[in-house]
Amino acid sequence: MRALIAAGGNARRLRPITYTINKHLIPLANKPMIYYAIDHIVAAGIRDIYVNVNPGEKEIQQYLGDGSRWGARITYIEQTGGPKGVAHIIKNAEHYLRGEPFLFHLGDNIVLGDLNRFVERFQRENLDALFAFSRVRDPQRFGVPVIENGKLVRIEEKPIAPKTDLAQTGIYFYNDTVFDAVANIQPSGRGEYEIADANTYLIQAGHNVGWEEITGWWKDTGKPEDLLEGNQLLLNEVLDKEVYNYGMIGPDVVIQGKVQIGKNTTVWENVLIRGPVSIGENVTIKNSYIGPYTSIGSNCVIENTEIEHSVVMDYAEVRAGTRIVDSIIGKNTIITSAKNSLPLGHKLIIGDNSQVEI
Ligand code: DAU
Repeated sequence: MRALIAAGGNARRLRPITYTINKHLIPLANKPMIYYAIDHIVAAGIRDIYVNVNPGEKEIQQYLGDGSRWGARITYIEQTGGPKGVAHIIKNAEHYLRGEPFLFHLGDNIVLGDLNRFVERFQRENLDALFAFSRVRDPQRFGVPVIENGKLVRIEEKPIAPKTDLAQTGIYFYNDTVFDAVANIQPSGRGEYEIADANTYLIQAGHNVGWEEITGWWKDTGKPEDLLEGNQLLLNEVLDKEVYNYGMIGPDVVIQGKVQIGKNTTVWENVLIRGPVSIGENVTIKNSYIGPYTSIGSNCVIENTEIEHSVVMDYAEVRAGTRIVDSIIGKNTIITSAKNSLPLGHKLIIGDNSQVEI
């Protein structure tokens, strides 16, 4: 079995963060989002991975390389003509994938737990397609299945009036029949080849299609709180398995709960860290409180600050002199206290599409 990961698209909803970083590389629990998809694919025994990227993309390749760090082989496929829809990714990859079943994993989706049971069921029942559905608060943002008398009859893409609170997640299993489906659908009203239409085609053509409801699914929907929720879910999961402390910790530092501290990180002078918290390498933390569900990247400085339920990316310097909550702080950001500079007041240099609560 092979895997295809979607890592192209526009990511307009996550600006300004995505001005300088590909959305799939945004760190959650201190690891680029797309790494979790690869971890799960490899854990399910799949080694042959194809990654769909936008034409001219370079950053994804720099991060993932040839896949050898996962013991896998990664081949990159540029999406001809750019992001033309999720079903178009499959159409565009047909040449590479035909002949063997594959797992299609949207790179901005995260599933907690493992994918093994899906692989087993897909193979055991000799299915043509298998979908994962999950209950959501806002089904109108997703593909929504229509189930009549217990039977899946179609998937509606972003319906105004969803018929259930189930959503089609970004985890799909297919065999070659999907190539007929993607060849027989037209672009939707918003101009995209919709995966919901391809799946509906498979269902209505009478193919052997299975579905399963899952829990522990996360998908960014473009708001900061969505990313923070992903970070929280992953900190819970990752820190259950892996807690470490490679840092230099001063005597007046208190560490509570599950915490990761990377190499060459120095924590000293009156610090309380209350997990789950992940801290990268070469970080300096002084006179601060780092509260639950916080990830701090590498090469950061945190001083005279209380921070909780937040994501701080690499090379950020935070000397806020105050409490920061529910925040996403981008790479190379500097936050300082206004207390000692005149005139008093908030002084902001903020890029386009930023959001600040003061
Ligand atoms: O996440 C699940 C949802 O994903 C499903 O419920 C929907 O049925 C499905 O259409 C899709 O909806 P989104 O609107 O969330 O798709 P988005 O544009 O965010 O793209 C999903 C992933 O695929 C993301 O990692 C970017 C990538 N992508 C997207 C397009 C449109 C590509 O690589 N190429 C593309 O052309």
